[in-house]
Amino acid sequence: MENHRGVIAEDYHVLQSLGSIDAARAAMVAGPGTDEALLIGLYQSVEIGLHNLVQLLDRAAVHLRDGEVAAAATELHWVRGFHRVLVRLSLAARRVSGGWDAEVPRWTVDGTPAFAEFRGALGRFDRELTALADRPEVDLGAVIAHRSLDDAWFGVLHCARIANHDARVWSANLSASAHPAPEQPPDRVLVSDSIRHAVFEHQLRGDTYFTQFRALHQIPELLIREINDRVEIAIRRIRTGEIVAAVDALDGAGELFDPIEACLPPLVDNLSTRDYHQIRENLGLTSGSHSVSIRFELFTELYEQLIDAIRQYGDAGGADPLARRLHRNVRDLQVFIFSWRDMHLHLPRNNLGGMETKSLTGARDAVGTVRKMRDNAASNDPLARVDKRLPVPTSLAGPLVEYLDGPESSDGLLLSVTGKVTQANFRDVQERTNFFAQPCPFSRPQRRVV
Ligand code: HEM
Repeated sequence: MENHRGVIAEDYHVLQSLGSIDAARAAMVAGPGTDEALLIGLYQSVEIGLHNLVQLLDRAAVHLRDGEVAAAATELHWVRGFHRVLVRLSLAARRVSGGWDAEVPRWTVDGTPAFAEFRGALGRFDRELTALADRPEVDLGAVIAHRSLDDAWFGVLHCARIANHDARVWSANLSASAHPAPEQPPDRVLVSDSIRHAVFEHQLRGDTYFTQFRALHQIPELLIREINDRVEIAIRRIRTGEIVAAVDALDGAGELFDPIEACLPPLVDNLSTRDYHQIRENLGLTSGSHSVSIRFELFTELYEQLIDAIRQYGDAGGADPLARRLHRNVRDLQVFIFSWRDMHLHLPRNNLGGMETKSLTGARDAVGTVRKMRDNAASNDPLARVDKRLPVPTSLAGPLVEYLDGPESSDGLLLSVTGKVTQANFRDVQERTNFFAQPCPFSRPQRRVV
């Protein structure tokens, strides 16, 4: 099924090219749960980010050449967002590398296929920008001196200078991080063909942010696969009393929380309601709630089994001095899961809105459904059941809730305006007609039982 932009996704797995993400992991030169796999996951994620920067920078260069400065400014905002993700990935790589000998060779980030393409795109963009500086129609000094965030030229220059410095930072961090397989060429270490295929497999016509929307799902999907394998290892080790190994597996998993969390702000900050609406129909009857690895495995099944394994270890009299560390690990996981949920709520709020706006999958009130998913998870939280002292970290309660939900706040107004716009743009989604009359084909996956 197609619309004027291209294919309408069959399901979430196809939409996000998760087959290629799985292939990239399956062909890794290191086994899951190793320090090498942590680094490879981070470097593969960098590769996804770099391919996206190539597309964005090339589009921005064309827009600058054509005098479409506002369009270039929007692209540069996304560029800045992806550089921020790369910085966070590179910091995680540095932390992970801290445990390696100083003699271990360093990562050859400048030898990867995506880096070479990025370097070319950066040069093309810079040539366009510097050529403009020589022309009379724009006075860069005047832009910097007198204009601010309301101005497209200022947006271009401001984001470009931030991106330049961030590029200096992440590239320095990555080239100082450990090489996970010095005897192998970078494209083999990264399984670059699969990563590239994942990024570019599905394209839509026109200048949309579809590739970036997919990338900011793909990086978390990729990294959460490593977290899940590590949580599974930890559960097995706790059951056999190998607490040092369990803590090690969970410490490694924890290194990935920060870069995953870092993938939400670029979407939250840069995806406008209009830009999301341009691609919405092509997402078909899908939702991130169909993510097997995120929603079902990590947020539910592995999280519960990990807590259960720790409880059983304690009940059986297990008293390894490192057991306290396990409690810390599981609390960190809880904070990660719930803070991710709170940050993710921005997306249905901004892009779908209130007034019982239906989600693509047919949930009657999209924002209400996402809130309910969070609230149900909070009230059934297995960690809170075991340790009653720990309140679940959500924004459910707090000193501003009453005001923000009340008539004086602008929040309700903005949600309802957004909802009305979404419903008017997507009658088929709202009224479940034509393509959206079909029942959602997704069914609950098999439980990941350790
Ligand atoms: C514009 C961007 C997004 C919108 C509008 C959006 C919207 C939604 C909606 C409406 C739901 C619940 C209702 C339903 O499934 O139909 C949901 C759930 C979910 N989404 Fe998103 N989403 C966005 C981006 C993302 C991203 C980037 C990810 C992950 C990489 C993601 C992962 C999830 C997960 C895991 C759930 C289940 C939540 C839970 O278990 O609490 N979503 N999303």
